[in-house]
Amino acid sequence: MSSRGNFSGRIGFILAAAGSAVGLGNIWKFPYLAGQNGGAVFLFIYLICIFLLCYPVMAGEIAIGRKAGSDAYGSYHKLGGKNWGYLGLFGILAGIFILSFYNVVAGWAFGYFLHIAFGDLLLEPDFGSFFSFFVNDVLDVSSTKGLTNSNFLFSLMFMAITAVIVSQGIQKGIEAANKIMMPALYAILIGIIIYSLTLPNAISGVKFYLIPDFAELKIQTVFEGLKQAFFSLSLGMGALITYGSYLKKSENITSSAAVISLADTTVAFLSGLMVFPLVHFLQYKLQVTEVATAGPPLIFIVLPQIFHEMGPVLGRIVGGSFFLLVCFAALTSTISLLEVPVAYLVDQKKMKRKNVVWGIALLIFILGLPIMASQGMIPALNKLPFYKGQDFLVFVADMCDISLTIGGCLMCLFITYRWKIHNMDEELSIGNENYMNSFVRKYLNFTIQYVCPVLLGVLSVMVIIDKFFGIENLF
Ligand code: TRP
Repeated sequence: MSSRGNFSGRIGFILAAAGSAVGLGNIWKFPYLAGQNGGAVFLFIYLICIFLLCYPVMAGEIAIGRKAGSDAYGSYHKLGGKNWGYLGLFGILAGIFILSFYNVVAGWAFGYFLHIAFGDLLLEPDFGSFFSFFVNDVLDVSSTKGLTNSNFLFSLMFMAITAVIVSQGIQKGIEAANKIMMPALYAILIGIIIYSLTLPNAISGVKFYLIPDFAELKIQTVFEGLKQAFFSLSLGMGALITYGSYLKKSENITSSAAVISLADTTVAFLSGLMVFPLVHFLQYKLQVTEVATAGPPLIFIVLPQIFHEMGPVLGRIVGGSFFLLVCFAALTSTISLLEVPVAYLVDQKKMKRKNVVWGIALLIFILGLPIMASQGMIPALNKLPFYKGQDFLVFVADMCDISLTIGGCLMCLFITYRWKIHNMDEELSIGNENYMNSFVRKYLNFTIQYVCPVLLGVLSVMVIIDKFFGIENLF
């Protein structure tokens, strides 16, 4: 065990797993999903998903990882035999694809951070056209104020930073990086929220975010809430099996999982509280009743415009801090995504960590190239005919989302029918003496055996139908 490395203790593990969970999903995606899906209604559905489906899957994954003490493939293989090992491989592949698109978006955020903090981006006359220019011509190395505009280079740099950290191993790399970035992330987040609440019209943003609009409650709201919850907690592909395999036996898994879920949900919730007052401040400034907040435009077009309105000095400070926050969130997630395939090769093929890290990072970066080019550079990838004309990035991200809920469903079946629930209970009771007689045990046993597999199975199938055909067409 010691040769594989391990987290130094509870705090190190919780920060790393919370770092994996807190990411672009929380800061960029959660606020606009909530905005589009009825505000507090979405929040409510999201919370149900966390309690009912995500928390049990998280505890299960960590238990599997710690019991087997191996990577995603090795853990399923060890506890369930060769065929279950494929489930681990499926997860590792999903992680590779997630990182391939995630790193592209992280590269944009990194570029924006450098350009706002050290360049002139906030002086742009039109943030919409800047963003399309930026994501479109990925190889354009022309520069503004000495900084390149090539998001190809920014993604490459982001992947390199991720690789440097992961190559240092568990304690000196992953744990150390999270111990710095996670507290910084919370501090910046809270700082910006306090500031944004003082802006004119901020309260209207808070109301928009928190007052439920039940008219928006549709079956798709449930799908979005579920997919988002799974993605946000990094579930369903073995990231937490991998991190769990570095966790000491003395630690309490059920309470750690609760803290991680809570830490992640708090950041998602707070991100909305940061973003909507800002957006409504802009509406007030521009005297309009609505600005587009869907998808990438929210943080790459609307927010820069808001920072611009704050004036050159304050805009640079608040905008720079905001994008630094996004970069920290993304980096603590890319680290966990890279660790999954790295752990597999280190554990199974006995390869050297350093070589594996750089090899896989390069491979994933190359896989990300068509995704990068799908934002306009290659028109065929920008409008996929078989996918309702959406682009390749959206397609890959959607496929990954689906594989996570399927992965979660299969994990529950694995625990129920192969590993057996009493073995999970035994693992969960290590580090938690009261577990066997606790309510948590009854809850986990019930949800993992009955609720999660059924709901996750049914919802995954419905999401697939909806993605390709539109669920309304069925009824
Ligand atoms: N949870 C991260 C986010 O919200 C993304 C992420 C990191 C992830 N590791 C993962 C998603 C593993 C799924 C699986 O942005």
